[in-house]
Amino acid sequence: MTKLTRRNFIRLAGAGAATAVLAACNPNSTNLTPTSPGETPLPATLPPATLPPPTAVPSADFVPDVEIALRAVEDTAVIFPNVNTNVWRIQGELLQGDAHTLQPVPDSYLGPTLRLRKGQKVRIHFTNELPEESIIHWHGLHVPANMDGHPQYAVGSGQTYVYEFEVLNRAGTYWYHPHPHGRTGPQVYAGMAGFFLVSDDEEDAANLPSGEYDIPLVLQDRRFDDNGQLVYLGNGMMDQMMGFLGNQLLINGQPDVTLPVAARAYRLRLLNGSNSRIYKVGWEDGSPFTVIGTDGGLLEKPVERPYLTLAPAERIEIWVDFNGRSLNSELKLVSLPFTTGEFQSGQFPVLTVHIEREATENVALPEKLSSPNFFAAADSERTRTVALLMQGGWTLNGRTFEMTGVTDDETIPLNAIETWEYVNDSAGRGMGMGMMNMSLPHPMHMHGESFQVIERQINASGKAAWETLSEGFVDEGWKDTVLVMPGERVKVLRRFGDFTGLFIYHCHNLEHEDMGMMRNFKIV
Ligand code: C2O
Ligand code: CU
Ligand code: CU
Repeated sequence: MTKLTRRNFIRLAGAGAATAVLAACNPNSTNLTPTSPGETPLPATLPPATLPPPTAVPSADFVPDVEIALRAVEDTAVIFPNVNTNVWRIQGELLQGDAHTLQPVPDSYLGPTLRLRKGQKVRIHFTNELPEESIIHWHGLHVPANMDGHPQYAVGSGQTYVYEFEVLNRAGTYWYHPHPHGRTGPQVYAGMAGFFLVSDDEEDAANLPSGEYDIPLVLQDRRFDDNGQLVYLGNGMMDQMMGFLGNQLLINGQPDVTLPVAARAYRLRLLNGSNSRIYKVGWEDGSPFTVIGTDGGLLEKPVERPYLTLAPAERIEIWVDFNGRSLNSELKLVSLPFTTGEFQSGQFPVLTVHIEREATENVALPEKLSSPNFFAAADSERTRTVALLMQGGWTLNGRTFEMTGVTDDETIPLNAIETWEYVNDSAGRGMGMGMMNMSLPHPMHMHGESFQVIERQINASGKAAWETLSEGFVDEGWKDTVLVMPGERVKVLRRFGDFTGLFIYHCHNLEHEDMGMMRNFKIV
């Protein structure tokens, strides 16, 4: 993978450009916010919960093509020069399989990038060496219920969970992160996440830029104290209700990143790995984007967008050809101003691309990328409605997460194809939280198979804010997370195939999720 370099480093103590602009997102803050007495440095642990028995030993009748050990550990990372920042991270070791399966991300707290192929059988030993329980979820992957990292399978300190599954997904940019109930936000924030890239024959046939020309980039915002240590939930209840926002953007775990490129075509895979921040990604010079993929892999054909709206957990893949750009020129990726109604985001830098060398060869953008094999709206067997409601805290249809609790209206016959409608237009219907009676965007995520976004409706009160982001939605591809803006109703269509058992759907604003804006659905 191409090494990212640091330039124009911003000293922690003297709020530089990136920090100042990020901070401007918060109207009350004009520069880097120092740690206030009430802020809790990581890690903060919860009292131990009652744990299910550790998982069984690997099964004898599962023959893996790839075997990996992942360990969640307390460690340090160098994010700023001469500062060791305490992080929690996932370390990996390839036990069996092709060497390229596991690629460490240099100079980063990120877990290794896992590269697998559709059809491969994978065994992963996850060992938790943290002082609290954890479990890993393969975000976007279609795996059996007990291999999905459901919070009920969280393992305690010193315990191991063994995953065995076949990679059934089409080629795409998936990722992995912890999923213990109530602690997903702090664990992801502390550094636990990694890419899970799947390839297949269809992707090979598209002849896309590969190797060093295929670059996964994760956007994450963080907040640091004067000692360069991560700070989480400094504003307590308010951060939980709104979602936690940092004031320092990190790309693949580093601040102020410059990406050196050759003057040729690249495939950039963008993942929003932030707890709650939404990005409106644009080229500073106004160039449009050529989008080739979403959460669940390649689009049928490339589409153009003026900017990219990237909500937490969403992925967008772009094709960008630097051919024709002059040597040593720079191109800047920024997050453009937008509003969600409640919250205004100003412009801030994301990444600088530096065209540092000529290319010896190039590839052409294919007209056709893949056959997504979408369902038709007429395939839908029923419609379920999920209201996103503030009722003391964030809820789904007025309910919060129960470890194994599930209702009739969350019980789905195996292999059913259904429409789920997420409704976020209930402003004013919330119960008595005074100033907390707010309307916020919610990135809704469903475990299991991917979905199509088949309809969006925005009401009059939400329209102005919606229009500051809506041209950046990419609804042409398979997705597993969809942003539902204030005043909006979004219908998604999907199959609930192959595996029975308990899976979850939730808001991927991790503070909302931890607060219980998450429910089981049960496939029977
Ligand atoms: Cu990315 Cu339920 O998670
Ligand atoms: Cu997921
Ligand atoms: Cu939410």
